[in-house]
Order: sequence, then structure tokens, then C-alpha cells
Amino acid sequence: MWREPPVNPRDYWQMFCARGWRLPYTHFREAHAFDLRRGTDTATRLAREQYDAEGDTFEHSTFYGAAWTSVIEQWFDWVAERVGPELSSRTFVDIGCGKGKVLIVWAEKAARSGASMPICGIEYYAPLADIARSNIEHVGLAERIEVITADALNVDPEVYGRRPVVFLFNPFDADVMRPFIERVAALDPLVIYANPVHGDVFEQRGFNCLHETSGWHNGLLVRAYERTATSD
Ligand SMILES: C[S@@+](CC[C@H](N)C(=O)[O-])C[C@H]1O[C@@H](n2cnc3c(N)ncnc32)[C@H](O)[C@@H]1O
Repeated sequence: MWREPPVNPRDYWQMFCARGWRLPYTHFREAHAFDLRRGTDTATRLAREQYDAEGDTFEHSTFYGAAWTSVIEQWFDWVAERVGPELSSRTFVDIGCGKGKVLIVWAEKAARSGASMPICGIEYYAPLADIARSNIEHVGLAERIEVITADALNVDPEVYGRRPVVFLFNPFDADVMRPFIERVAALDPLVIYANPVHGDVFEQRGFNCLHETSGWHNGLLVRAYERTATSD
């Protein structure tokens, strides 16, 4: 059943005030249109002050905003090309999956390319994780995608498997990024980091930047990181 996606005119107004027409126009094309096509609720942001949360996780986290559709698609293509036939055996994990958009785009792209990789999202804020599950169910991907309500620092390493593809869209600050990297480094992840505000933390831990895309907005700045064989 198609559902009316919630539209927040204040979001559009703030975007216009910040960057002129280009940002609200791009938001419509790259975020809002995704929901209009599928009847999902992913485009509306949740500002920090709208979270009903407190504690360490909240203090160190950013707010919810969805990655742009073409950015996710472009990076799926890049990962598929780099990993090749091994793609199906590598788990995709979106750390801070918010309302589940990255997971849905990834699953749709995987289906089109014949890759059967496990797909999983981790989100600490339960109301967002619930919206993600509802969106995923709505597009008929509930069997394909798992959403776990948890702090990224408390996730059972078994979720990742060996050599996971880990996606991050600037979910938290360097104080959380450091222990997070310690938890996953030994798994030899391929990390896709959008708006990589703390990319230096990866570099200090022996990860190399393999590829970068950029553009007029920080949502377009994305880097792929992988550890060199001699990093430990
Ligand atoms: C910028 S949003 C990105 C959402 C989604 N990955 C996307 O690209 O569309 C960052 C998300 O990370 C979540 N987050 C922040 N800190 C977290 C933590 N420690 N563990 C799990 N999720 C976290 C936030 O609640 C928010 O939903």
C-alpha cells in the first residue's frame, strides 16, 4: 500500500537559506523522490534536538539525514567492481542506518546485479530503527535486510562476518570512531565513509584511502578505506 511520505517544509526552507536553490532541488531529486516512488519515509531529517535521547551515545552522535540515492548507487557499483564475484560472500553493514534508505538501495542494486550478500543495518535510536524496519517491510525486503537496534560499539562481531563492507555516513565523532575502528579492524573491512569528517582516524590506524568522490556538497565527499596487509 502506498503511504504519503511526511514532508517537512522547514527542511526545504533551511536548505534554501543555507545554499540557495541548488540544495532543495537536489534534496528533492536525491532524497524526496526516492520516497515518492516507493511510498517510504526516509527523506525527512531528524535534527539532534528532535531526538528524545541522552547518554554517551547521543552525546557523540550526529543527527539523521539520508545519503543521496545516486551516491549510494555509484558506490555500490564501485564496490561491486572492486570486490568482483566475492561480493555475495561479504556482509554489507550500514553503521547508523537511520531510516534504512542505504540498505534498501543496496539491496535493490544487489538484486539487479545478482549478488546475494547479507545486508544489515545498525541504529542506536529505536524510533529510527523502527521506521527503517517499516520502510523495509513496505518495499518487500524484510526477508533480505536485518536491522539491529544497538550502539555501534556494542554489536556482536559475528554480525560482520569476514571482510565486511562497512558503510558510514558521518554517524559519530572521533571519540566513538576510534574504538569502533578497533572493533572492526581485524575483520579487514572495506570501509565506505561518506562525509568523512574523521577520515584521519582511519589513516592513523593503518587504513589507506583507495578511492574518493567529491562535489559541491559534503554529502558527495565519500572515501573508501582498506587496511594494508602490514598494518598490525
Ligand atoms: C547521518 S545519519 C546516516 C543515516 C544512513 N546511514 C544514511 O546514510 O542514509 C547518521 C545515523 O547514525 C546514527 N548513529 C549515531 N551514532 C550511532 C551509534 N553509536 N550507533 C548506532 N547508530 C548511530 C544516527 O542516529 C543517525 O541515524
